[in-house]
Amino acid sequence: MVFDRNEQKAVVALLGAGSMGTAIVRRIAAGKKILLGDISEKALARVSEDFRHSGYDVETMVVNALKKDSVQAFAKKAAELGPVMYFIDTAGASPNQANPEHIIDLDMVGTGYAVDAFGEVMAQGGAGLIISSQAAYMYPIPNDIETQLLQIPTEGLKDIAFIKEVAMKNSGLAYMIAKRMNHLQAQRAAATSWRNRCARINTISPGVIVTPLAYDEFNAHSEGYQRMIDASAARRTGTSDEIAEAAAFLLSEHAKFITGTDLLIDGGVIAAIRTGEYQIG
Ligand SMILES: NC(=O)c1ccc[n+]([C@@H]2O[C@H](COP(=O)([O-])OP(=O)(O)OC[C@H]3O[C@@H](n4cnc5c(N)ncnc54)[C@H](O)[C@@H]3O)[C@@H](O)[C@H]2O)c1
Repeated sequence: MVFDRNEQKAVVALLGAGSMGTAIVRRIAAGKKILLGDISEKALARVSEDFRHSGYDVETMVVNALKKDSVQAFAKKAAELGPVMYFIDTAGASPNQANPEHIIDLDMVGTGYAVDAFGEVMAQGGAGLIISSQAAYMYPIPNDIETQLLQIPTEGLKDIAFIKEVAMKNSGLAYMIAKRMNHLQAQRAAATSWRNRCARINTISPGVIVTPLAYDEFNAHSEGYQRMIDASAARRTGTSDEIAEAAAFLLSEHAKFITGTDLLIDGGVIAAIRTGEYQIG
């Protein structure tokens, strides 16, 4: 049976077919062509079946976000499927899932590869979204270092002294710095490669969102997370659907004047930290 006779459908490419990414795609992809990329074949099979059974048009590709050529092949495949109107990057590892080097490689350099690769294929009027983290607000990087980071091409990021000496100290620092770097990567792309294609790119920085990734964090630091949740204005954790709601707006026509910026969605955790109502540790 042919469910959809339309040709040249807008392509929605998702790198990292996890909890938040799939919630976002579900919101925006009706009548479009979905391309799911993930390192896990099992996740791709499960998620694509779920999408198909819900009436979506979906293809999958095994992608390793750590590898530049794999990410480039993913972007190329997206462009072959039709005009790439949406790109969402949620491939990431959290502090308790990986060592500092892996976090820097995946959350920072891997994201850079993806932003660069899709900066060559986005269609005019397209929009992108990187999922960063509230952790991006927890370790202020000095201004002069940020200026330097904004200028460095993705390949060179790991070689700068700040990354080698500070970010590699532990997984927590690596994560905070990599996630702040996502904001800078979106800013740079918004002003250069993505701008040149008349496409927009932003980040969302989620707080504590209950997903399989978050459970690895809770299992390692349940007391700290409990205090964080209790001190927040929302007094609860968030859901992937709440992130998807905001993501759908940022990716939509209604957000056409929004590019190169971050939206913090954390239930008030960073406000509690900034005002001294909650201290990390
Ligand atoms: N859950 C939270 O509380 C939270 C909070 C802030 C930020 N984040 C960030 O949100 C993003 C999505 O997290 P989630 O909670 O939906 O987690 P998730 O584990 O459900 O999704 C992450 C996906 O990335 C994939 N992935 C991992 N390594 C990969 C690689 N090398 N190549 C390709 N794919 C790879 C995983 O297989 C998984 O499907 C992550 O970047 C995470 O750091 C999560």
